[in-house]
Amino acid sequence: MSDDKKIIFSGMQPSGLITLGNYLGALNNWTKLQDEYNCLYCIVDMHAITVRQNPAQLRKASRDVLMQYIASGLDPEKNIIYYQSHVSAHAELSWVLNCYTYMGELSRMTQFKEKSQKHADNINSGLFTYPVLMASDILLYQTDLVPVGEDQRQHLEITRDIAMRFNGIYGDVFKVPEAYISKVGAKVMALQQPEKKMSKSDENKNNTIALMDEPSIIMSKFKKAVTDSDNEVRFSDDKPGVSNLLSIYSAVTGITIPEAEKEFANVGYGNFKTSVGEAVVARLEPLQKRVADLEKNKDYLDSIIKINGEKANHLANKTLRKVHKKIGFPPRV
Ligand code: TRP
Repeated sequence: MSDDKKIIFSGMQPSGLITLGNYLGALNNWTKLQDEYNCLYCIVDMHAITVRQNPAQLRKASRDVLMQYIASGLDPEKNIIYYQSHVSAHAELSWVLNCYTYMGELSRMTQFKEKSQKHADNINSGLFTYPVLMASDILLYQTDLVPVGEDQRQHLEITRDIAMRFNGIYGDVFKVPEAYISKVGAKVMALQQPEKKMSKSDENKNNTIALMDEPSIIMSKFKKAVTDSDNEVRFSDDKPGVSNLLSIYSAVTGITIPEAEKEFANVGYGNFKTSVGEAVVARLEPLQKRVADLEKNKDYLDSIIKINGEKANHLANKTLRKVHKKIGFPPRV
């Protein structure tokens, strides 16, 4: 990593399937950052176990994220893409930072409140201290910028609070990170409930398009997408379903929304939805093919995991050593 570039860090849980929303809202934009910034993309398997996971599925999902990241165009030689569990400094820093985080702060996290309702039979302490692990992820790499969605803003705020608190006691140990707000990137809404965001944890699979969905599935989900009753393809706040389809179409084809409105001016919703589906299928096809190729290339993937894991370990340990020294742990001789 060159010293003159800012550092970007982001994490994704290997749970659920990466969606078109993740792709158009995040991944696709990240590919444009890889020359200007030093980027780390962490597959946060340690966060994932705060809710029960099936081991075989977790292992597969982690590898799937890695492959889909690479297939989306993130160059694994320019970006450090790695598994959180392969860098033990995340757990180690997390312990330390737990001792600098207050129960009261963690109790205010809306995601904790939501998840403890959803998983009422498993309100474990990992779920509670989840934001501290996330803070550790970010702070270990002296991160400047974190691309986060609205739902993670509170976690980024607490990360900043923890960093400033620690720096206040021990001097400048951590870079205090900021949110990275992308200028481009579409916000993709749920196909059946266009007033909410498309989310990979959505239980209604007709709400989401997974990057690896087969063409026939993609077509049928778009055909079922919710629109409205006035049969006019126009972008407008009071037409959330149609507007969402228009912005998906625009994002995957590069055609502007006004141009798309013209294209579909005298077209019924049925044909409009078919065209959007076809455009998405065409966009995802090469990506799906790259994943299929990667799947066959175990040695290549293994080498990526190893090399990037080593790079991440090296960077993370530098910060961890500094932290240990500051808080008074005995030096290793
Ligand atoms: N909590 C994030 C989510 O569920 C994932 C995450 C973990 C993350 N560590 C991170 C995101 C660090 C950004 C930076 O979406």
